[in-house]
Amino acid sequence: MGRTLTFEIFRYNPTADDDRPRIDIFQLEETARLNIFTALNLIREQQAPDFMFDFVCRAGICGSCGMMINGRPTLACRTLTSDLPNTITLYPLPFFKLLGDLSVDTGVWFREVAEQIESWIHTQTEFDPQAEEERMDNATANKIYEAERCIECGCCLAGCATAQVAPDFLGAAGLNRIGRLMIDPRDQRDEEDWFKLISTDSGIFGCIGMMACDDVCPKDLPLLEVFAYIRRKMAAIGFSKKKEKAAAV
Ligand code: SF4
Ligand code: SF4
Ligand code: FES
Repeated sequence: MGRTLTFEIFRYNPTADDDRPRIDIFQLEETARLNIFTALNLIREQQAPDFMFDFVCRAGICGSCGMMINGRPTLACRTLTSDLPNTITLYPLPFFKLLGDLSVDTGVWFREVAEQIESWIHTQTEFDPQAEEERMDNATANKIYEAERCIECGCCLAGCATAQVAPDFLGAAGLNRIGRLMIDPRDQRDEEDWFKLISTDSGIFGCIGMMACDDVCPKDLPLLEVFAYIRRKMAAIGFSKKKEKAAAV
């Protein structure tokens, strides 16, 4: 016979005047290969029809089911109850705006960051639909592909100490996006542009480098590598700026 699981779940509807944050407790019989996605749907169907949480793909692709599961930011659809103890606590991701219960709005933050860092290829080259596609070497293409695997789930922001105290910090997801564009030879932004964009406390120098983001990223993005690349690049630009300044004196 399977275990009886106890779910301790944060509940709060910020749009209802008479609601207050609380923990609701639900029990569910564990079945084979039960994941948190299915468990929450069963709880909503059988015990709490007004329960709010987000899912789309159920396959670790859409990034909408991020939540704190026993204190760790992760994807509900990729978490099996068999990997957890009898009591499972669920909270919404911190850092993002709470919409209700376990549902948060990651979209607004990601859109604002995309606009702030101008998250698109900057090029003066006119688009020619007849031209042959430009070639790129495999190593560069692979690095871009790796960084592009981010599903914007927000788990790295929820696990980041800096992000909790500095809401304008770009976080691992924002820095990863910048790294992706810096690697891309088609983006014609120069060193000065990159330096202005991220050599700040809300950029790479706000990052304390303890790599909690790397520990919790459910897509195992090579964040450590991307950050090292950005730091090296920023340090080199900063050093050459210093030399130029010294030479001018
Ligand atoms: S870097 Fe990883 S944890 Fe952060 S948003 Fe992207 S996929 Fe999620
Ligand atoms: S290394 Fe630490 S401070 Fe930097 S983005 Fe990752 S979690 Fe945040
Ligand atoms: S439902 Fe899409 S990532 Fe979990």
